[in-house]
Amino acid sequence: MLEKFSKWKSSLTPTKTDGELELDPAAVPRHVAIIMDGNGRWAKQKGLPRIAGHREGMKVVNKIVRRANELGVEVLTLYAFSTENWKRPKTEVDYLMKLPERFLGMELPKLMEENVKVRLMGSLDHLPEHTLRAVNKAVYETKDNTGLILNFALNYGSRFEMVEAMKEIALKVEKGELKPSDIDDKVIESNLMTADLKDPDLLIRTSGEIRLSNFMLWQVAYSEFWFTDVLWPDFNEEHFTEAISIYQKRARRFGGV
Ligand code: FPP
Repeated sequence: MLEKFSKWKSSLTPTKTDGELELDPAAVPRHVAIIMDGNGRWAKQKGLPRIAGHREGMKVVNKIVRRANELGVEVLTLYAFSTENWKRPKTEVDYLMKLPERFLGMELPKLMEENVKVRLMGSLDHLPEHTLRAVNKAVYETKDNTGLILNFALNYGSRFEMVEAMKEIALKVEKGELKPSDIDDKVIESNLMTADLKDPDLLIRTSGEIRLSNFMLWQVAYSEFWFTDVLWPDFNEEHFTEAISIYQKRARRFGGV
């Protein structure tokens, strides 16, 4: 890991318990976005197939959703499948496409009970019918819930999102509904898949990789970043609380002083 990035990274070990961490309830990040990385390496370390890592990773989603909701986070965006992940072996892609169905099949009643609202962010192209059906059902059934928004980034890529937004804007200009001089941050934001969501306050990436991998490039302009070496299947509620605790010690200036 490069030395210059070390200050962004967790110095705490995975054994740290959140009993020791005090959070300020008034300064909980409203939107947390997570790049859930390291499932494959976790499986490899254990001599298991990569899909075993994804299965374990799915269980972690459950824990983090619950903790985020308890802490009063308003939006939790999870990078579940990128537009580039189609390059993986077919068996792995097929397995990843079954996870939303499995997760929601098991967890939807609990998500309803906990007032969680499920959303989907990504391209619907190429998503298998069964995956879309499961997600759409959850989106529909939870549409009136008012608690945590659980935003699955599925078949999501930030560049794709921005290209689509540019096309929408260009179309409005062509139709005379918008002048080029009207195009500003607000116009671009309102054409992104996050149009009605606040930008992430905190971005977490697990597994020691320090990159964004085409995730919410516009939206994280002023987010706080927190990277940890912990692999996603080993990530737990304590790590999540730790990330928030570190976030609360940061001074956010948004370009000001
Ligand atoms: C990256 O790890 C992880 C993914 C591409 C998939 C993430 C999916 C989950 C955690 C489960 C999602 C659950 C639901 C409910 C949709 P990697 O495979 O790239 O790991 P590696 O870098 O160690 O190979």
